[in-house]
Amino acid sequence: MTETYQSKTYQIGVIPGDGTGAEVVAEGLKVLEAVSKKYGFSLNFTHYMIGGENYKARGEILPDDVIESLGKADAIFLGAIGHPDVKPGILEKGILLKMRFHFDQYINLRPVKLYEGVSTPIKNKGPEDIDFVVIRENTEGLYAGAGGVLKKGTPDEVAVQESINTRKGVERCIRYAFEYCRKRNKRKKITLCGKTNVLTYAFDLWERVFYEVAKEYPDIETDYAHVDAICMWMVKNPEWFDVIVTDNMFGDIITDLGAMIQGGMGIAAGGNINPQGISMFEPIGGSAPKYTGLGIINPLAAISSAQLMLETLGETKAASMVEKAVMKVLREDLKDISAGKMGYSTSEVGDLVKDFIESN
Ligand code: IPM
Ligand code: MN
Repeated sequence: MTETYQSKTYQIGVIPGDGTGAEVVAEGLKVLEAVSKKYGFSLNFTHYMIGGENYKARGEILPDDVIESLGKADAIFLGAIGHPDVKPGILEKGILLKMRFHFDQYINLRPVKLYEGVSTPIKNKGPEDIDFVVIRENTEGLYAGAGGVLKKGTPDEVAVQESINTRKGVERCIRYAFEYCRKRNKRKKITLCGKTNVLTYAFDLWERVFYEVAKEYPDIETDYAHVDAICMWMVKNPEWFDVIVTDNMFGDIITDLGAMIQGGMGIAAGGNINPQGISMFEPIGGSAPKYTGLGIINPLAAISSAQLMLETLGETKAASMVEKAVMKVLREDLKDISAGKMGYSTSEVGDLVKDFIESN
C-alpha cells in the first residue's frame, strides 16, 4: 500500500512529574497513541524524570540540559509538579513557572466546560449554561517575581511583591483572546476581568488596551467585570461568559473556581501556550499525594489536556475525536468523576477512551 499523504511526526517532551502525575500521563499517552494511529500522524515521546523525587535524590530542580532538550520539542506534556516533602515554592517556581517563562508561554488557556453526565455544585445549571474559556496571562503580573524583602525576621520587616504589566505583554494576551473568541465562534463575547476600581495603574493599562484592540473586532461583544464580582457571576450566571481574559493572579484564582463549577479537578485541563513556540499542556489539579499509586485518580483532565495539545499542534480532527470519546465516557460510563468513585480504575478509564477512539 502506498501512502497518499505525508505523515507528520511530532516530538513531545513528557514530564510525568510528581504524585499521581505519572498515572494520569500514562493514560494521556495511551490515548495519544491511539488517536495518532487513527489520523495518520506520529508522536515521538521523550520522557524527563524531573520533579520532587529527582530533587530529593539529586538536588537538581530543572537542569539546563533538560531545558535545552525540551527546546527541540514541538510540545510538552506534563503531569503534576509538587511534593509533600519539598518546601512549597521550590518546585513550583523552579520547574513549572521557569518553563512557562523560559518558553515564553504567555497564554494559560483553561476551558471551563460542564460535560453531560458530570454534576456541578451549581443548582439548576447544566451543560448549556457552563461553557466558557479563561485566557490567563501567564508570564507577568504578580508572578514576575518583582519585589523584595527588607529587615527579614525583624519586627520592622518589609515585604514588597509587585505586579508587572507591560504594554507588550498585556496586548499580546488580549489579542490572543480576541482571536480565540472569533475562532471559537460561540457567543462572540469577551469579558475583561480586572480590578479597575483599586488597581488603577495595572488595570488602567489592561482596560485601555482591551478597548483599543476591541475596535479591530467589531463582531465581538465586549464586557468588563471586577474580579470579585466575576466570582459571584461565575456561580450565579455562568451562561453569561464565552471568553474571559485576565491577568496572571486573577486567572489563577478564578480558574480554580471554574474547575469546581465544571465538576472538579478531575476533568479540568489547561495549556500554557506560546503561539509561536513550544507550548506545555497539563491537568490543573495538582499531584494529589494522598491518591498516589492507588490507581484511582481520574485521568480525564490529563486526557483533555492532550486534546488541547492536539488542537494547538493543528491536529484538530484528532482533537475533536478525543473530546468526543471523553464526552461519551463521562455520559455513559463513569459513576462519578472523583478519585475512587468512578467505578473504574485510572487505567480502565484510559482504556474506555481509547476503545471509543479505535471503534469510531
Ligand atoms: C496553576 C498552579 C500554579 C500557579 C502553581 C503550582 C505555581 O496553581 O497552574 O494554576 O499558580 O500558576
Ligand atoms: Mn492555580
